[in-house]
Amino acid sequence: MQLEENYPVFSAQRRDFGRDFVFGVATAAYQIEGGQTDGRGSSIWDTFSATPGNTKNGETGHDACDHYRRWPQDLDLIKDGGFDAYRFSFSWPRSLPQGQGAPNQKGLDFYERLLDGMLERGIRPFATLYHWDLPSALQDRGGWMNRDVASWFAEYATLIARRFGDRLASIATLNEPWCTAYVGHFMGRHAPGYRDVRAMTRAMHHVLFAHGTAIDALRAEGAKNLGIVTVLKHSQPFSSSAEDAAANDVEDAMFNRWYMDGLFKSSYPEVLVKLLEPHLPERWQDDLPVVARPLDWIGINYYTRQTIQFDLSVPLWRSKKVPGPLPKNDLGWEIYPEGLTHVLQRVTREYTKLPIYVTENGITETDDTRRVDFYDRHLQALLAAQRAGSDVRGYFAWSLLDNYEWAEGYTPRFGIVHTDYATQTRTPKGSYLAFQRMLARAADV
Ligand code: FCB
Repeated sequence: MQLEENYPVFSAQRRDFGRDFVFGVATAAYQIEGGQTDGRGSSIWDTFSATPGNTKNGETGHDACDHYRRWPQDLDLIKDGGFDAYRFSFSWPRSLPQGQGAPNQKGLDFYERLLDGMLERGIRPFATLYHWDLPSALQDRGGWMNRDVASWFAEYATLIARRFGDRLASIATLNEPWCTAYVGHFMGRHAPGYRDVRAMTRAMHHVLFAHGTAIDALRAEGAKNLGIVTVLKHSQPFSSSAEDAAANDVEDAMFNRWYMDGLFKSSYPEVLVKLLEPHLPERWQDDLPVVARPLDWIGINYYTRQTIQFDLSVPLWRSKKVPGPLPKNDLGWEIYPEGLTHVLQRVTREYTKLPIYVTENGITETDDTRRVDFYDRHLQALLAAQRAGSDVRGYFAWSLLDNYEWAEGYTPRFGIVHTDYATQTRTPKGSYLAFQRMLARAADV
């Protein structure tokens, strides 16, 4: 693609990020693949979205971006954009239709083609094993509420490591365990759609226990460069009152610390244990060493901040989120680039000196000039964290394509490439071109 003078540009240059810094784009299987064929099993997102009232306009990921067939074109877009890496997810039900037992040969062949396609194009595969599409057969047995999910997940991890481990640049076990537990089992807004504190609490523990169990299984297969992707928000109290500070402490523990303390301190925040202990599985403490298995890197997804106010009328937490004053994306999430600097510094200061990858960051917005500005400011925020001592090694834009945004359906548009769902035409946006221009300067590095 030819670079024109009026293309949007970012203020940062590639060389500012350091020699081996990895630039990539991210997607997830259910959000783009479609391809409900060739032996793919049902997932909780198929059934959740098929249930009236659960998703906007009743939209499902049945066809999504038809990436199952159009992947060569999508990989070409990644290559032509100048990206080094692609963060994608394996679909568990495509690989193991019943979640366990017999693998689906045709499904595994798809990932074989996809991986070879990446390597042929010089794109490094950053794999995620679980991006929310639990096989329905496992949900029938309690899914994340059942402690056995750890061994089911380890079996799936072993299959992927055996078959593909030699070609993967890195493996993340889970994407955003907070979302699985809280949004899926407490808010009911994501599959499997529970609104139940006990369901959530068991899931909060089992996601992390399954993560650690899978890390052991992956290591046993000789898989390298293992991590997990957590979402972090900058969380702040609404006012300087002691009540708001306490409310913020609970919400911060819920969103950020439960997962980070578990992974890096082998403990859960006291303030939440007090509230949730009756619902935790028996002898949960015994699992903590598994939860905190050593990792090779940590992935952070960052989108926004939250402002928290004390509210006595809310059972359990006694807190609520209040809308902030900053400009927002199409979903109402505040745009707060400084928050990326804060969360990256927090990881380094409070948790680990492991390499950090920003594994997702992006904005749903129809006006792409705002998207260019969003990326520009967040890249600068990342550089600020690096200057302050955080060892940030990579950045993945969410997302390559406009895609199926879960309960919000196809209305949000997070892509740096526009998807016309009627024709499946892909059209690069200005933000794609801005990345392309910055990354084309590889020779400057
Ligand atoms: C993240 C998810 C990703 C996408 C973005 C907008 O929480 O990991 O799949 O939905 O939000």
